[in-house]
Amino acid sequence: VSAQGGSSTRSVPVTSSRRGYRVEVGHGTLPSLGKAIQALGLGPRLALVTDRNVLGIWGGPCERALRADGFEIHALPIEAGEAHKTLRGAEALYDALVQAGLGRGDTLVALGGGVVGDLGGFVAATYHRGMGFVQVPTTLLAQVDSSIGGKVAVDLPSGKNLVGAFYPPALVWADVGTLATLPLRERWNGLAEVVKTALIADAALVSVLEASLESLADGTAPREVLVDIVARTAALKAKVVSEDEEEKGPRMHLNFGHTLGHALETVTGHGPLSHGEAVVVGMRAAARVSHALGSLEAEGLDRVLALLARFPRPQGVSKPSPAALLEVAARDKKALVGKVRFVVLDGVGRARVERSLPPALFSQAAAWASEDR
Ligand SMILES: NC(=O)c1ccc[n+]([C@@H]2O[C@H](COP(=O)([O-])OP(=O)(O)OC[C@H]3O[C@@H](n4cnc5c(N)ncnc54)[C@H](O)[C@@H]3O)[C@@H](O)[C@H]2O)c1
Ligand SMILES: [Zn+2]
Repeated sequence: VSAQGGSSTRSVPVTSSRRGYRVEVGHGTLPSLGKAIQALGLGPRLALVTDRNVLGIWGGPCERALRADGFEIHALPIEAGEAHKTLRGAEALYDALVQAGLGRGDTLVALGGGVVGDLGGFVAATYHRGMGFVQVPTTLLAQVDSSIGGKVAVDLPSGKNLVGAFYPPALVWADVGTLATLPLRERWNGLAEVVKTALIADAALVSVLEASLESLADGTAPREVLVDIVARTAALKAKVVSEDEEEKGPRMHLNFGHTLGHALETVTGHGPLSHGEAVVVGMRAAARVSHALGSLEAEGLDRVLALLARFPRPQGVSKPSPAALLEVAARDKKALVGKVRFVVLDGVGRARVERSLPPALFSQAAAWASEDR
């Protein structure tokens, strides 16, 4: 813990077979980014990749601070939204990097949400077979989840994240002050992953969230609380990915609520339900499955359902058919047909992988998710 930007920052280590790095979580720390990049020996030429929404809000302050520290900045804006996390989007960035005369020894800074981090990271991993890479996440989801673990990717028309790499950043610089401008729905989206992480790995964090969920969503939580929750969640993700980089064991726990969540997003056509909204429904169904298997006692189930009931209910989403949900979920890479692998809670704050979920219970789970309102 160190003093910076008027409040304390928290430094979360991530280990990786390629290289270790740190997630630095603080409030009002964006102006100190340059010093941290210099300390790593990176620069002075930076490609600043950011989407047009973030560019208009945080691009200016970020660029000014970096220039003041002597960096040469090449701003490379992209259009906002998942629709631009594509090979075409990557190609546009490669072209812009060539135009700017940047190469292997230079550094790409991804300032934005998970879309910017995934696309920027994919480009950093592949341009000249790999350039410097720094993540500056500005959504709650990116600060606690997507910027940590080294996965970078773009989508194909046939599916999300189908082309990618493991490319750990040199640094993750998370200024929770940037979340002040994040739209409400995006805050709930990130909170879904925060709650997921707490449910699978940290009972004490579940209690903190029970006490503060709405204030985190509406931005009234004290900044120390926000820093604490982002840092704790980031540390939990960091621990899991450090122990299991190749996704063979504990990293699978991060998929809690996601088998049915992804199926819901697919069946409803990727739009009406945000990722977080779908995962909340998936977590409710998975908690019920955990109870049915005897892993989660009735009290624990009630507690989990009560916390998840505090998320806003998405409006105007038509009821997905349980059969369609089941089909998509079984196709999902996380669920092998015949032997369905499913992440369940082993009490509040602990998870395990059920390696062969009874098919009848899997159908029941799809029915629960379909009927969830
Ligand atoms: N690599 C991983 O391990 C991993 C893990 C989880 C998710 N992801 C990926 O992350 C992506 C989703 O990320 P996301 O939820 O951050 O979405 P996003 O990047 O699309 O950002 C959401 C919206 O918020 C805007 N925004 C970002 N920061 C803002 C700020 N501070 N103020 C105002 N507006 C802001 C963006 O312009 C965008 O419109 C998906 O593509 C998903 O596949 C990757
Ligand atoms: Zn998720």
